[in-house]
Amino acid sequence: MCGIFGYVGQRNDAGSLVIDGLKNLEYRGYDSWGIACKIDETLSIEKDIGKISGIKTSNFSDSCALAIGHTRWATHGGVTTQNAHPHANEDETIAVVHNGILENYQELRAYLEKKGHSFKSETDSEVIPHLIEEYMKETGDFASAARRACKDFEGRFGFLALHTESNTLVAARNGSPLIIGVGEDGYFIASDIPAFLEHTKMVQYLDDGEMVVTDGNNIIFSNLETGEAIEKREIEITWSVEQAQKGEYDHFMLKEIMDQKESVARAVNQNEDQILTLAEAIKNAHGTFLVGCGTAATACMAAEYFFSVIAEKHVNFAPASEFKLYHHFLKPKSLVIVVSQSGETADVLEAMKVAKSKGSKVLAIVNSEGSTIDREADYSLLINAGPERAVASTKALTGQMAVLMLIAYAMNDKLREGQKLLLETSSKINDMLNPRYVNFIEELAEKIQEKSALFIIGKSWNYPMALESAIKIQEVSYVHAQGFAGGELKHGPIALIEEGTPCIALVGNDEVKADIISNAIELKSRGAFIIGVAPENNEVFDVWIKVPDAGNAQALVNIIPVQALAYFLAVKRGKDPDMPRNLAKSVTVK
Ligand code: AGP
Ligand code: GLU
Repeated sequence: MCGIFGYVGQRNDAGSLVIDGLKNLEYRGYDSWGIACKIDETLSIEKDIGKISGIKTSNFSDSCALAIGHTRWATHGGVTTQNAHPHANEDETIAVVHNGILENYQELRAYLEKKGHSFKSETDSEVIPHLIEEYMKETGDFASAARRACKDFEGRFGFLALHTESNTLVAARNGSPLIIGVGEDGYFIASDIPAFLEHTKMVQYLDDGEMVVTDGNNIIFSNLETGEAIEKREIEITWSVEQAQKGEYDHFMLKEIMDQKESVARAVNQNEDQILTLAEAIKNAHGTFLVGCGTAATACMAAEYFFSVIAEKHVNFAPASEFKLYHHFLKPKSLVIVVSQSGETADVLEAMKVAKSKGSKVLAIVNSEGSTIDREADYSLLINAGPERAVASTKALTGQMAVLMLIAYAMNDKLREGQKLLLETSSKINDMLNPRYVNFIEELAEKIQEKSALFIIGKSWNYPMALESAIKIQEVSYVHAQGFAGGELKHGPIALIEEGTPCIALVGNDEVKADIISNAIELKSRGAFIIGVAPENNEVFDVWIKVPDAGNAQALVNIIPVQALAYFLAVKRGKDPDMPRNLAKSVTVK
């Protein structure tokens, strides 16, 4: 989703500082960008469609101490320079950047046009500066006018506004993340920490329904509704800028795939009492639901099998976007487990609201500490995967599955056994991800890069991994990929198989091995090119991608070579695996 970044303080390089900060938010996915700088007493606004990466920070004046910038992911109004943010009022004393959707913007726009305001863009966001200006006529003050305007907004939003005359920044949120960086010489306000991490590690989080006002010297947090001041503690960010950078890899996606050499072990490193408590909560719950989106949803689906096989417990998966329909049988004793890498996914936040409306408890399993989901859940567990910047989620998936598996073992009073299995699996992943292995996967990608369709089959916990494999391949290489339960192909999709169609079979040394092998034979007999991901070779495989035997943790291992295959397919096909088209790292709109 879009990137928001602003600064106010004693520095005079606010323009270049904001542009550099937006570049650190590029991983969120966007289609246009813009910046507004207060230089002397006037506002200089620059915006354009396309990528910000080529912009020279030296283009920006070094006499600017107040600036805001934005990378836009268009929802209302096409991808044009005019629709890019920041948007300003007519006399350009107020400028605003916004993330989210103002659902009642047409009504607000009509009201403002009647009041004589004229608009330049097609966006919902442009009503914000005009409404603040309108309310300043009543309140006489920028911050209280901004607070007043928020009362009129319907929908999820996070916005950052500057006022040239009072030299202040105001930010308010209702659903879209905003974080404050506490600098020695001013304050930073951004959608995510990498925007300002090189300047400060001290942060304060803005929660939903809150506003922050700062002139660079003082900062006041307040309740958006009542105006009541709120104390916020400063939290130190423990991960470094380097961790958040690519290191020696060409892309974040490959770095994060390789991070799995130790990220699974980090996921296992949990507070044991907390895991045992949560395991107990699931045992005693009146129904437990696993809820997530996209890749996190496949982690939830795999966990249905973990809880069944390891804990003999029935839990239900539901895609977060569908969860609203489940409220009919939610009880206060129900437990909803939400899984999310970013901790900001709108559909998941909506599902949490449904759960809370019925009095159910919510456990969050997230990667982003301090994220909205992390802070709004009743309990939360961190997967400790470190920053995941590529749009395609990789290390977060295996971390999520590791934590869910740990809970399943704890439910059966076998926490130690689960820890041992997962730590052994982590070291097997470490051994697997050697240069020769990665090179083998790259060569396979070379071989099938021209194929227009690719199918993946799996059974048990490998079925969700077949679905996840499809997401990976689709989203970064744009190849049509589809995942199936092995047994389902013969009920229709097998008609799609032609001579040479690449089909990946995800196999484990488990009770369904013979079944998935016979599914692969059915495909082969119709001309498919079988790629077997398995601990042992088999005559049905045209290509064997060897993976370690990981027992109940086989799903965590099998998905990794397919992540790498998806990455190399994208690179071979000339796509940017870190920022695939049409996608965003954190989908903060419904
Ligand atoms: C994953 O590769 C996708 N980019 C996407 O499906 C993602 O998993 C989904 O949007 C959920 O994101 P979250 O884990 O941050 O909630
Ligand atoms: N809805 C706004 C627009 O379309 C903001 C989109 C975003 O979150 O980037 O401009």
